[in-house]
Formats: sequence, structure tokens, C-alpha cells
Amino acid sequence: MIRCQRHLFNIPDDVAYLNCGYMSPLMKTAMDAGATGLARKQHPWELSPEEFFTGSEKFYAIAARVLGCPAECIAIVPSASYGIATAAWNMPLSKGQSIVVLEEQFPSNYYSWHRLANERGAALKTVAWPADGDWTSAVLAALTPDVAVAALPHVHWTSGGMLDLVRIGDACRKQGAALVLDLTQSLGALPFSVSDVQPDFAVAASYKWLLGPYSVGLLYVAPKWHKARPLEENWIHRINARDFSSLILYTDSYEAGARRFAMGESPNFASLPAAARAMEQILEWGIAEISQTIAVMTRHLAEQVGDIGFAVVPERFRAPHYLCIRGDKASKQLSETLASQKVYVSVRGNSIRVTPHVYNSEDDLARFVSCLREFRW
Ligand SMILES: Cc1ncc(COP(=O)(O)O)c(C=O)c1O
Repeated sequence: MIRCQRHLFNIPDDVAYLNCGYMSPLMKTAMDAGATGLARKQHPWELSPEEFFTGSEKFYAIAARVLGCPAECIAIVPSASYGIATAAWNMPLSKGQSIVVLEEQFPSNYYSWHRLANERGAALKTVAWPADGDWTSAVLAALTPDVAVAALPHVHWTSGGMLDLVRIGDACRKQGAALVLDLTQSLGALPFSVSDVQPDFAVAASYKWLLGPYSVGLLYVAPKWHKARPLEENWIHRINARDFSSLILYTDSYEAGARRFAMGESPNFASLPAAARAMEQILEWGIAEISQTIAVMTRHLAEQVGDIGFAVVPERFRAPHYLCIRGDKASKQLSETLASQKVYVSVRGNSIRVTPHVYNSEDDLARFVSCLREFRW
């Protein structure tokens, strides 16, 4: 168990922020790292060409530890949708084949597949929300021989349901389907290992559970795809990029590994150091320890809300860090009332999503439960 780490964040005492699944607060050291990087732009004459690469290399080295893969398999991307579009752009898919997605899957891991299926005369196969909460069995049953791609999350964002990606990865390999993952609602708070799951592509935006800034993300690309086509053709990912004086000696050769898939202007001097610092702190705490710490909070909340008329996904099927409590009582009015008392959660459909982190205290949880009890339904 990690003791409450609120002192590392700039969260006022009267704010109960239980909404990491929306956007994490930036911790103070990440803020400082970002501010120092941004300030450097005041003196561009002090920025050497070498520094366009050193910041990225540091980011890649830390990201590799978070994902459990070689650093050369990662590319810096601006968003989850960018990573998914990169995968979709390269997927061989023909008429009669299908792509598996989940009901209510986040749109960034839907639209690219919707377009691809339409363009190729293929089908989008939507796995229906399982009544018993068991997404893994539902996905395994959907992996029939026509499936060419399974485009999935680790955690279903509106239910908190967790998928067993090791079993799903294994099933995909057995039938030759590619596995493309959106880890945005899990990476950093739920243990994940590239070597165990063996996805083809896996992306995560940094601004939620990786505790980083907005507009930075990381994309894992398996070695078998390293020669695939990037979405854009930026100079900095070409083999000659380190010699600024030779950039117009155009070359067809990219940097090794997955770097060709990185976005243009990937070495952002403000956001990369902030994202790297946040991931360093996550590794210092330990992802398994973060998961266990938040699990205690969500379990406690799940027990408390049952008698106020809400239902939760059974613990064995939900992600430990992610609690969606469902019921007719969830409403925009409820979320506004909570916010007026400085208790922050997300209401999505008829579900209240409560996503605490190690900066939350027992008092934050108690305030949420007492607001629910006092709300005039
Ligand atoms: C599951 C999931 N994926 C991705 C995102 C963000 O997507 P993008 O980075 O494409 O804006 C979110 C944001 O809520 C999300 O919940």
C-alpha cells in the first residue's frame, strides 16, 4: 500500500478529485520539469541540435520500462487516435473479414476501424455488453476465423470491466488476428507487459493514468510492423536527422525500430520532460502497488454505494483502479451537485465513474459517499 501522496500534487484541501479517468492532475515535479522545458524556448540559441534527441531518448527509456518492451519499439504520438490510425492504415483486411470492437468502446479506437471496414467491404463486429460483466469470455467467443483484427482496450471505459489480454492475445495469435490495444484507461495503474500480451500495436495517451500532460502519448509497435507506413513523413525520424546541415540530402531511410511512426515535432521540450518525470514517479511507486492501493479505495466505495441503490461490476471482472457505479439515479444534475461541493467524478450515461489515485485521502472518499447519501433524488 502506498501512503497518500497528495503532498506531491497541487490539490487544494477542499477538493475531492476522484476523476483520474477524465484527466489526472499534474504533479509538482512534472509541472516544474515542463515549465523548465518551456522556458528554454526563451533562449533558443542555447538549444543544441543534440537536445532534439536526448529528451526523446530519455522519454523512450522510461516508457520502455512502463510497457515492458525495448525502447526502440516505441514512438511518441499526440493521441490515442493517432496510434490507432497508424495501426489501421497498415492492416491488411479484405472483404468478408471482420474487426472486433466492444460495445461503447471509446471513439478513438472505433472511428479508424469503422472507416477501414467501410473502405474494404469488411465488417465491424461489436461485442455486446455482457450481462454478467465478463468481457473476456465475450471477446474470446467473438474471435471466429473471419476476424482479422481485434481492436480492444484493457479496461472498458464506461463499465470499468477488465479484459484478460494475455488470454485474448493468445487466442488472436492462434487464429492469425492482429491485436491492437488502447491502454489509455489503464497503463500506469494496471500492470501490463508487452511480452506477456504480445500485441501488434498498443497506444496510451499520457494525460490520465500516466499522470502526464495533454497531447503526448506512446505507441508500441511490434517488430514485425517496423517496416510499415507511418502516418506522416517528418524529417526528424530519418536516418540523417542528427546532422542538421545535411537534411536536404533526402533519404528513404528511417531511424531504426518504431521511430518512423512518431509524430512530427516529437521532441517537445515542455511536455516530454513532464511526461517522463511523471512516468519515473509511477515506476518509483510501482504499478502493481498503485493498482493495489487504488483497489482498496474502489472496493471500499463499492461496498458503500450498494445500499444507496447503485450496482457495480463484480470485482473479479472489473479493473481494480476503476469503479463505475450504475443506476437510474446517475444524472448530469448529480454530477453538477457533486461539483458544487468540490467532489469531482464523471457521469457517463447512467453510470458514475469514480477513478481515484494515490493522491486521494479517506476523507475524499467519505465526502463522495456522504454527497450521494444526501442527494435529493
Ligand atoms: C479509452 C480512452 N482512449 C482514449 C482516450 C483519449 O483519446 P485521444 O488521445 O485520441 O483523444 C480516452 C479519453 O477519455 C479514453 O477514455
